[in-house]
Amino acid sequence: MSALKFHICILAFWATLLIPSSCHGDSAVKKKHAALYVFGDSLFDPGNNNYINTTTDYKANWSPYGETFFKYPTGRFCDGRLIPDFIAEYAKLPIVPAFYPRIVDYTHGVNFASGGAGALNETHKGFVIPLNYQLHNFKNMEENLRHNLGDAEAYTVLSNAVYLISIGGNDYFAPFATNCSFFETHSQGEYVGIVIGNLTNMIKTIYKKGGRKFGFTRLLPLGLVPTQRPGNRGTCVKEVTSIVNVHNKELPKHLEKLKSKLQGFKYSIAKLDTYLTERINNPSKYGFKEGKSACCGSGPYGGIYSCGGKRGVTEYRLCANVSEYVFFDSFHPTERVYQQVSKLWWNETPNAGEPYSNLRELFEV
Ligand SMILES: *[C@@H]1O[C@H](CO)[C@@H](O)[C@H](O)[C@H]1NC(C)=O
Ligand SMILES: *[C@@H]1O[C@H](CO)[C@@H](O)[C@H](O)[C@H]1NC(C)=O
Ligand SMILES: *[C@@H]1O[C@H](CO)[C@@H](O)[C@H](O)[C@H]1NC(C)=O
Ligand SMILES: *[C@@H]1O[C@H](CO)[C@@H](O)[C@H](O)[C@H]1NC(C)=O
Ligand SMILES: *[C@@H]1O[C@H](CO)[C@@H](O)[C@H](O)[C@H]1NC(C)=O
Repeated sequence: MSALKFHICILAFWATLLIPSSCHGDSAVKKKHAALYVFGDSLFDPGNNNYINTTTDYKANWSPYGETFFKYPTGRFCDGRLIPDFIAEYAKLPIVPAFYPRIVDYTHGVNFASGGAGALNETHKGFVIPLNYQLHNFKNMEENLRHNLGDAEAYTVLSNAVYLISIGGNDYFAPFATNCSFFETHSQGEYVGIVIGNLTNMIKTIYKKGGRKFGFTRLLPLGLVPTQRPGNRGTCVKEVTSIVNVHNKELPKHLEKLKSKLQGFKYSIAKLDTYLTERINNPSKYGFKEGKSACCGSGPYGGIYSCGGKRGVTEYRLCANVSEYVFFDSFHPTERVYQQVSKLWWNETPNAGEPYSNLRELFEV
């Protein structure tokens, strides 16, 4: 926005106090900013799980969650903002609100993500909003958008929009809930195919509604999160690492195949596996002091998932300076890590041979 337009907008904003006209209804302004729709798991959930019937294992709406930025717990599994919050800021959008409780204006975007969710219905069934139901909510939202804007304008909003999706991690943790030998009797390749197959179905549905521009994440190195460190319950480190690596190799291949089938389909991939592994193993290079232990939690490496004391274990430690840590709780990175990786995702030029763009380019076209 030019400085002049900015001033006009400010004036118009103040004018709304006196006369009923504003910048909000100006569709020229609206078209400038692609909307942002978000799906996925706890990496992206801004508080949808606050509104579902679940247990505290799938919630984070108590102190000290949220303290760094919001100063109150929002339901984000973090001390502050998440990747979609930073991306919205870089795209000059307002912070993208949670789908629950229902809001009225969906034209800048909305976030459907749910902590603990997977691409499979079976993953944490009954405790989360699975990807399939997030898509159901998206379809309802689309109807609302068409009702309010008309079919053509709604389609324009959806086709200019960017769709961010973080999914899969929970689908790969789930088979190890009881023991580590699941993939001695099941094929890794088949299981990954089913997870990515369900993700692909979802992409095709959004594409039919007009969606063209997508951002995906390669999975975090799940074998390196604090819960998986020695002395904690969540082990199966080798097995988790192995299946996550298969997923991270397969995802780009499937997306490339999809691109050849769906005309106009564009995408970007955030290398969260690389970004996190680098910071965990070499924290000082990125301005951190502690790469392995959680800032908030109990037990060895803060690997007992007790941050805030509401998940059955009431005692927990909280670090003095969260900015020094890569992990906030036993599973989830700090706001500072999210900020660094969001900047990279927004700006980074893909390596030679990688057929996708950074996020900034997706928002431009
Ligand atoms: C919420 O879930 C619990 C445990 O699964 C169940 O006993 C209870 O009836 C549910 N409440 C509602 C309102 O669905
Ligand atoms: C997932 O569950 C929904 C709702 O129960 C159902 O409509 C859908 O067919 C299921 N999807 C798969 C792949 O099983
Ligand atoms: C662990 O999983 C494997 C493969 O699914 C199964 O054969 C085995 O009986 C399980 N062991 C235990 C102790 O549950
Ligand atoms: C989606 O997941 C279900 C299991 O939840 C599986 O039966 C189905 O085959 C998957 N769909 C695809 C297209 O892979
Ligand atoms: C917290 O840690 C960050 C990063 O190491 C540092 O820049 C900052 O000064 C620290 N704050 C305090 C209050 O010590």
